[in-house]
Amino acid sequence: MRHMRVLGVETSCDETAAAVVTDGRVVRSSIVHSQADDHAPWGGVVPEIAGRGHLEAIVPVASRALEEAAMDREDLAGIAVTLRPGLLGSLLVGATAAKALSWAWSLPLVGVHHIHAHAYAALMSLEEWEFPYITLIVSGGHTSLYRTTSPLSHALLGETRDDAAGEALDKAANLLGLSYPGGPSIEEAGKNGNPDACPFKLPLLEPDSLEFSFSGLKTALLYRVKGPGGKRNEPDLPDAPPLEDLCASYEHAIARTLAEKCLRACDQEGIPRILVGGGVARNRRLRELLGEMALARGIQAVFAAPEHCTDNAVMIAGLGHALFEVGETVDLRADVAAS
Ligand code: KG4
Ligand code: ZN
Repeated sequence: MRHMRVLGVETSCDETAAAVVTDGRVVRSSIVHSQADDHAPWGGVVPEIAGRGHLEAIVPVASRALEEAAMDREDLAGIAVTLRPGLLGSLLVGATAAKALSWAWSLPLVGVHHIHAHAYAALMSLEEWEFPYITLIVSGGHTSLYRTTSPLSHALLGETRDDAAGEALDKAANLLGLSYPGGPSIEEAGKNGNPDACPFKLPLLEPDSLEFSFSGLKTALLYRVKGPGGKRNEPDLPDAPPLEDLCASYEHAIARTLAEKCLRACDQEGIPRILVGGGVARNRRLRELLGEMALARGIQAVFAAPEHCTDNAVMIAGLGHALFEVGETVDLRADVAAS
């Protein structure tokens, strides 16, 4: 059987990424250029800066992915690119580059849904797939639960009513004077902290709800640090808990909430298998906690490999392979979409 090699291109947020993957499984190359340093002074992603950054990085990143895979046009079967959801100006850069290559090299093109690709990254951790799965996608822009019946079919069960989990971490880091992106800096600052030192009320919502809400947690943290009303200008209250305990407790509250909701979804849907992907899935506390809680209930929790949790193009090329298999190609008129 002839192997199918796909070039993946990802530019939906602040990572410019390209990868070559064989048969949706074997990673031949993966290049990720992060713009985190360019956005750090603003404490979050600035769309104009992101678009420009992609424009500068896309050609070198794609060239390097092909070079490292030691592949050329004739070795590739097709190109996969993220078309949605994401920042329009950012998506456009990847989409235009992928279309140009597709046209110049006469290669077919598929348009990938970024969130479904995060789920595919978790499927790549498994030798064999056993659908259906409960899928949790936790990133900077999304916190959602799905019932997944194939790599391409995800029925939404619940999502966040306000902030995404990653956003709650990014905003908290900003408040605590830690650097962007907040997930890794809170993880680092809290790694030796006591997660029970300053407990936060978990936003579990109604007993059967599969939705999320993280904005209250962020406000609770603000009050812990700045006092009731969050109005004090001094950096800390005299009796504010140590930073490492605050970080560990806040991170724990988010991880615990995510884990509880996953298990709730498993119960409601009668599915004993969970897939977890997206940038926040890289978090060690979440991986440990959900892993343990699932195991105790006989549920299998499968995380994307850490390097495939945050935005990358391996997951785009991987899901692209699944789209090529069912013939869902797009033409050069294919458009990008914010949601
Ligand atoms: O999936 P991703 O790279 O981009 C989006 O599609 O949004 O996710 C980025 C988010 C950021 O909010 C970042 O703070 C968070 O993932 N993140 C983490 C970790 N690494 C990245 N959150 C917790 N722990 C981490 N180790
Ligand atoms: Zn993402």
